[in-house]
Amino acid sequence: MYSKRIEAILKILEKCTTLADIGCDHGYVAVEAIKRGFALRVFAVDINQKPLQKAIELSKKEGVYHKIEFFVGNGFEPIREPVDQAVIAGVGGKTISNILSSAKEKVKHTKLVLQPMKDVEFLRRWLFENGFEIKEEFVVNDKEKFYVIIKTERSFNIEYSEIDVYVGRHVRNRSKESLEYLLRKKEKLRKIAEMKKENKKDFSEEKKVLEMIEEVLNEW
Ligand SMILES: C[S@@+](CC[C@H](N)C(=O)[O-])C[C@H]1O[C@@H](n2cnc3c(N)ncnc32)[C@H](O)[C@@H]1O
Repeated sequence: MYSKRIEAILKILEKCTTLADIGCDHGYVAVEAIKRGFALRVFAVDINQKPLQKAIELSKKEGVYHKIEFFVGNGFEPIREPVDQAVIAGVGGKTISNILSSAKEKVKHTKLVLQPMKDVEFLRRWLFENGFEIKEEFVVNDKEKFYVIIKTERSFNIEYSEIDVYVGRHVRNRSKESLEYLLRKKEKLRKIAEMKKENKKDFSEEKKVLEMIEEVLNEW
């Protein structure tokens, strides 16, 4: 049993032929995707050799080494063919957008599972502005830390609101985790706004997001 975060990523994978695990590190997703029958072949990429070595060792231990190709490299660069599905998890939202930006052609038909560690709002806006539709979003509470997981793919005619960017489409699920995440975000923003107000600093950004959260909570 892996962490709740990793299990949540695995749970939303779709069955496919080829899957890429970008920034694979330990290789949990790459190895389990094969073991649980989500993919027939996996490309595991990490920008550093040391983490990739961990993934290679795990795959040998779990008997799936022959089904995974391992690459040291940046994002999708080492993968020569388009893949059906890809996971980019455990890195910042800006890194994810950089990786996708350099691989726009390659991921034209790829189903993406993204789990940013920070800059979630930046990533959502980048996705919408660059022709990626956010199909679904989830919040996972893993040991009192909240993680946002985004399912996205290239699409035409994308329509999105500022609430989709700043709050996120996870609220559509009305899940317990989603509500807890929202309440915690509200409290954090409220404290920041208060502090800025006391120090006579501009807190209009926090105020704007707080109003959006309030609007969503009122309809809950
Ligand atoms: C914190 S680990 C996350 C591992 C795993 N994906 C997870 O969610 O648990 C981030 C990994 O991404 C790798 N990484 C960072 N930037 C990358 C890039 N541009 N291309 C490939 N790998 C990258 C790092 O070397 C590191 O091993």
